[in-house]
Amino acid sequence: MPMLRFLTAGESHGKGLTGIVEGMPSGVEILVEEINNELKRRQQGYGRGARMKIESDRVEILSGIRWGKTLGSPITLFIKNRDWDNWEKAMNPEKEYEGMHPPLTKPRPGHADLAGLLKYQHLDIRNVLERSSARETAMRVAIGAMAKQFLKCFNIKIGSFVIGIGPKEKEIETAYLDETELLKLSILADNSIVRTPWKEKEDEFIEVIEKAIKNGDTVGGSFIVFATAVPPGLGSHVHWDRKLDAKIASGIMSIQAIKAVEIGDGVSLGKSLGSKVMDEIFYSKKRSFYRKTNHLGGIEGGISNGMPVIVKATMKPIPTLRKALNSVDIFTKESSLASYERSDVCAVPAASVIGEAVLAWHIAEAFVEKFGGDSLEEVRKNFSFYIKQIVETKWLKNSELKG
Ligand SMILES: Cc1cc2nc3c(=O)[nH]c(=O)nc-3n(C[C@H](O)[C@H](O)[C@H](O)COP(=O)(O)O)c2cc1C
Repeated sequence: MPMLRFLTAGESHGKGLTGIVEGMPSGVEILVEEINNELKRRQQGYGRGARMKIESDRVEILSGIRWGKTLGSPITLFIKNRDWDNWEKAMNPEKEYEGMHPPLTKPRPGHADLAGLLKYQHLDIRNVLERSSARETAMRVAIGAMAKQFLKCFNIKIGSFVIGIGPKEKEIETAYLDETELLKLSILADNSIVRTPWKEKEDEFIEVIEKAIKNGDTVGGSFIVFATAVPPGLGSHVHWDRKLDAKIASGIMSIQAIKAVEIGDGVSLGKSLGSKVMDEIFYSKKRSFYRKTNHLGGIEGGISNGMPVIVKATMKPIPTLRKALNSVDIFTKESSLASYERSDVCAVPAASVIGEAVLAWHIAEAFVEKFGGDSLEEVRKNFSFYIKQIVETKWLKNSELKG
């Protein structure tokens, strides 16, 4: 089975982040500027910390792409840490600069600090936080940006918008939004510093973040991420680890600080009647099978059904607080306030851009699995043959029924 896969490596304040992507068909046009643009989108949003001002992420392509097109060989991406000069001694891979960087010993509740320290038996929390940090998502966004460019060849688009910050949330019924409306909301969100399409909500969200900044506190929130023009048939019902919803949920949940993932109407489905939320099936010659609603977020039985794929994710508040929380010093075992590193107060808008990259990846992964070939041309042929079959529904002809 054709397979798309990737690995990332790199510490938050290390020399840089590396990503290796394997399985991308040859002949896909990759514009570096589009990757850089996605990296820029990830760095924006009201409530980010000082680091966003230092960073201006740019990707370097080290392999797998020649003259703007994929070769079919492994693609290596690199994002340099622009602050490396200031971290070279603290993060030097070869030798320790003794006494210059005392260990961090006061784990932050809500971060990977204590659990990671116990698991890997480190004596310095930095050895955990450098990799648990959401800095790693810069590479996932770069890889997702390539997935987006691949999906664009098949008119599949990915977007997102923020619907809640702290206790403020926009009530929105995505089940009744068509593809044009979803894409419009995402474009409007691109022009908002809190990535929300609704002006009145923007003011409310900013107010929540400002209050948290003032109080040395942090906030979370939620966002919608979606994919349009997804053909029916991605993923599979036949095995648990081939279900598209399961893969997407796992990918979105793996984004740092995401604590809930919902597909379509999600949690509220549990409070609804079946008669109200199953997306009834219609047929017309022009449209083939279609639905008028999308309560189930475009996936049934782990398979895309031709409706937009809609995912909601909820992010917890950022665990590093300026007004530090109670913790315990790992050496003295005495109560102490948790350590503070420069930090975001709210990163929901950035998480929503990361969500796009993750969704793009999983749709691309399922697409390559279904229509895979070594070259884009081969994938195109497989795709158009399948779509033709679906539109013509020849194998479903009534006249051929026996008995
Ligand atoms: C875009 C983004 C930025 C983040 N920025 C910070 C930050 O500045 N400080 C912090 O403590 N946590 C930040 N987080 C959250 C932590 O990385 C996350 O809570 C931590 O790694 C523990 O993982 P978990 O929350 O998934 O359990 C950020 C998360 C995302 C997605």
